[in-house]
Amino acid sequence: MAPFFNAIFTNMKIKIAVLPGDGIGPEITRQAIKVIDAVSKKTGHVPEYREAPVGAAAIDETGNPYPEQTHNICMESDAVLFGAIGDPRFDNDPGAKVRPEKGLLEMRKKLGLFANIRPVMTFVPLLHKSPLREEIIEGADFIVVRELTGGIYFGKPQGRSEDGNTAYDTCVYQKYEIERICRLAFGFAMKRRKKLTLVDKANVLATSRLWRETMQALALSYPGVEVEYMFVDNAAMQIIQWPKRFDVIVTENMFGDILTDEASVITGSLGMLPSASIGLHTSVFEPIHGSYPQAAGKNIANPVATVLSAAMMFEQAFDCEEGGRLIRSAVDASLESGVVTGDIDDSDPASTSEVGDWLASWIENI
Ligand code: IPM
Ligand code: MN
Repeated sequence: MAPFFNAIFTNMKIKIAVLPGDGIGPEITRQAIKVIDAVSKKTGHVPEYREAPVGAAAIDETGNPYPEQTHNICMESDAVLFGAIGDPRFDNDPGAKVRPEKGLLEMRKKLGLFANIRPVMTFVPLLHKSPLREEIIEGADFIVVRELTGGIYFGKPQGRSEDGNTAYDTCVYQKYEIERICRLAFGFAMKRRKKLTLVDKANVLATSRLWRETMQALALSYPGVEVEYMFVDNAAMQIIQWPKRFDVIVTENMFGDILTDEASVITGSLGMLPSASIGLHTSVFEPIHGSYPQAAGKNIANPVATVLSAAMMFEQAFDCEEGGRLIRSAVDASLESGVVTGDIDDSDPASTSEVGDWLASWIENI
């Protein structure tokens, strides 16, 4: 059987769009590419990369933070590897006509990426790095399913009054948007510990009440899953105080944004947490951290969140559990060997590219 098996499963072409973006984006995506290449040699994939600009880098090149050409490349690919977006030139200029973040939001919208999956886990060698006590976080393992194309990020109207003294954002959700993401979250819960927490603000917001009502109706179809409802302020507290109680959290766009940055503290470094955005078209794999402009070009940023995003890419876009497992094992080995960047250990830090090289060669030599 072996030759037959090999004949089918070798030389599978995988088309990956690479959108490095801003700040540390280029250097961290470069390390993920090394790792994808190393894994592909083991799994029989043949990666084909196409790079395209996004964010401030794209504004500088084309005036548009998500150019049509970049979108076409994403649509024609099997997966998108995304770096980071954001540039202080725009952060400090609230009057800027066009913003890099708009590129990310447009990409999410145009690719129909309605769900952002953000796993939160701990790494034993990093337990002592967390500002939280080890006994609180050890074994914490949950995922946040963040709605990504609705809510206050996209609701209309958004803007300013003519005199400039009033500004407004609108939070809008339609029932179908809530249903599709909650179904996805139920799917994850079924494969995990069968506990699903809806985080909302139903005591104040009409959109949250629609979320809660929709979830209550859906829950009837998933009797095997324990569903709980939690207000976002309470959730912010419980994630820090009792992270082990969570299995799958599903929540709207902005609550998910805020809670996942908070949750990254459990892991010990924001530089460790990956994410996958999935939906109607090509999925996007990106670290949850930002563009860290102070470190850009210095070869000091932690590439692990992006590398672990590549692990999610193998599992979710290429249906290759083995690829994901190889990458996760390599990351565990690097942490155990102390091959880490300065955010984790500043006594004798490895550089961004050294971590990337180490991970790739670990995979090649296993
Ligand atoms: C994230 C980021 C983005 C968001 C920004 C850069 C628009 O913070 O992916 O979490 O708020 O979604
Ligand atoms: Mn964020």
